[in-house]
Amino acid sequence: MIRRSVLIGTGSALPSRAVSNAEMARLVDTSDDWIVERTGIRNRHIAGEGETTATLATAAARAALAAAGVPGESIDLIILATCTPDQTFPASATIVQDAIGANGCIAFDVAAVCSGFLYAVGVADSMLRTGMASRALVIGAETMSRILDWEDRTTCVLFGDGAGAVVLEARDVAEDGPGLLATKLHADGAHNQLLYVDGGPSTTGTAGKIRMKGREVFRHAVVNLADVLTEALAEVGLTSADVDWVVPHQANQRILDATARKLGLAPEKVVVTVDQHANTSAASVPLALDTAVRDGRIKPGDLVILEAMGGGFTWGASLLRV
Ligand code: UT7
Repeated sequence: MIRRSVLIGTGSALPSRAVSNAEMARLVDTSDDWIVERTGIRNRHIAGEGETTATLATAAARAALAAAGVPGESIDLIILATCTPDQTFPASATIVQDAIGANGCIAFDVAAVCSGFLYAVGVADSMLRTGMASRALVIGAETMSRILDWEDRTTCVLFGDGAGAVVLEARDVAEDGPGLLATKLHADGAHNQLLYVDGGPSTTGTAGKIRMKGREVFRHAVVNLADVLTEALAEVGLTSADVDWVVPHQANQRILDATARKLGLAPEKVVVTVDQHANTSAASVPLALDTAVRDGRIKPGDLVILEAMGGGFTWGASLLRV
C-alpha cells in the first residue's frame, strides 16, 4: 500500500454574465473571426457586481464538497490559487474557509498565475502525504476581468472569470490504485516581462493591468508544456500512449493543438473549454476537469494529466489516476 492524494470530488462556478466575441467587437477593434481563428475563444464569463474571486471560489468549493459527499467542517487544508484575490490580504482562502465552516484549518493563497492550480495541487499533495493534513480543498479562482485593460485588444479578448475546485483526501491505496502519481513544477523569472501586471501594492499601490507579449509567450508555452508533460510521465515510467485525458490550461486552442501534436496525443483526448471560458488563469484547469468529470468523459480508473503555463514564467504538470 502507498499513501496518495485521491480525488474525491470536483466543482466549478462561473459568473452569470456570458460575453460573446460580437460583444467584445463593440468595445475594441476586433472581430469574431480574428478571435476564433487566432485563439478558439467564442465566449467568456465576466463577473458582475457582487461576484468576486472569493464568491466564485466558495461556489466551486461547495459544488466539490457536495460531489465528494463531505461537509466543509471536515476539510483541514484549503489552498486557493489566484492572482486576483479579493484583497491584498487576508488571503481569499480564509474567506472561503469561513463560508464553508472549516474555521481553524490551514488556509492560504498561492500566486503562480495560470500555473497556480498546479502549484496548489503540488503543495497540497506534499502536505497530505506527509500527514500535515488529511482532506484538502484545492481551488483555482480568478476575476481576470478586474485587471484587464479594456482598451487593449491584444489582451482583453483573451481572458475570462471563473473558479474550479477539487477535494483531495490522503488514502492508503494499492500501487496501481487511484491518486496523484507525480507533480512537476518549474519557474523562470528571466521571462517575467513577457507576461505581467503593471502595478502592485509595493510599487504603484494599485492592482495594475495585464500586459503580454503574446507571440513570445506562445512560443515558450508549447516548448515548456511538452517538456514538463514528458517529465511527469517519465517520473512514473509512463508515456503519452498511457494517458486517457489531457486537461490543459485553456489559453489558446492553437497551443492545445501544438502541444498535443508535439507529444503525439490524439486531439480527442484533450479536454477543451477555451471556446466557452476563454483564459481563466488559475481557474482554467479545475474548471475543465470538473466539466469533463460531470459530462462523464473522465471516469474512475482513467489516467489524467493536468498541465499549465503562465506568468513568471511558471509551468507544471500533474499526473492523476482518477
Ligand atoms: O495564460 C498564460 C499564457 N498565455 C498565453 O498562452 C497566450 C499566448 N499567446 C497567444 O495566445 C497568441 O500569441 C495571441 C492570441 C495573444 C495573439 O495571436 P498571434 O497569432 O500571436 O497574433 P500576433 O500577436 O502576432 O498579432 C497578429 C496581428 C497584429 O497585427 P499586425 O501587427 O500583424 O498588423 C495584431 O495587432 O493581429 C493583431 N491583433 C488583433 N487583431 C484583431 C492583436 N489582437 C487583435 C484582436 N483583434 N483582438
